[in-house]
Amino acid sequence: MRRLLTFARGNRLPTYKTEEERNGLRAAGRFNAQLLDFLRDKVQVGVTTNQLDKLAETYTRDHGHIPACYGYQGYPKSICTSINEVVCHGIPNDIPLKSGDIVNVDCTTIVGGWYGDSSETFLIGDVSPEARRLVQLAFDSLWLGIGVLKPYSAVIDIGTVIARFGRQNDLGIVENFQGHGIGRKFHQDPGVPHVPIRKSRKDILAPGVCFTIEPMVNLGGKDTDGPLSDGWTVLTKDRSLSAQFEHQILMTEEGPEILTMTKNGPKPGHQF
Ligand code: MF3
Ligand code: CO
Ligand code: CO
Repeated sequence: MRRLLTFARGNRLPTYKTEEERNGLRAAGRFNAQLLDFLRDKVQVGVTTNQLDKLAETYTRDHGHIPACYGYQGYPKSICTSINEVVCHGIPNDIPLKSGDIVNVDCTTIVGGWYGDSSETFLIGDVSPEARRLVQLAFDSLWLGIGVLKPYSAVIDIGTVIARFGRQNDLGIVENFQGHGIGRKFHQDPGVPHVPIRKSRKDILAPGVCFTIEPMVNLGGKDTDGPLSDGWTVLTKDRSLSAQFEHQILMTEEGPEILTMTKNGPKPGHQF
């Protein structure tokens, strides 16, 4: 009897039911998107990722908010900047971006105690057709994942469609890093793997659950290397290019609400 009940109910996930909580999450997602819009035209040939980091930190603090990454488990900067074969958690430095680079800028901010988290990959100058294709497919994979979301859908449905898309396009979908629940904490349940994992069948996206989808997509294999001796930087094992996009989503009674939509960023269907 008890076993059956556990099976039927699925896992208990953090859930935000009140309008006050949901408006807190909405404000955090909105500001984080605004920060990406602010950075957008600065992500150019010649700028250093340290300059982007400073701009992000100043913009966030000037608006009365907090860069969430700074000091998080000892992380030394306010944003992550992951260039070319860096999968995630690249640390800003003094090397200027150069034509042909692809760079993921991942911002997380704390607004009134609530976390906002989203990222985009930017094309710098003239990029190779392969790099452009990878960025396109990383973007499309995020939106495929978003496309399956309905009240009470299971987290595993996200990984199922993204993994299938990866196989169809001969891409490596990273398994070592996942999306995550988010709220008053940066990372919480559910884990959101971008490939199907049995335990994610029980993670039910009931109204009130808030989470990210953030597939890391490689031109080569799915395997990762690192973190490097800096404690953070994760690379593709085969040193192939990697790209990523991230949105934060609140499931509501009416369906998914994407909290981190930008004004000027790529919309579903965008061609890079
Ligand atoms: N923003 C990342 C995510 O999407 C986490 C970065 S943690 C840091 O979950 F410490 F590296 F900043
Ligand atoms: Co995230
Ligand atoms: Co992020």
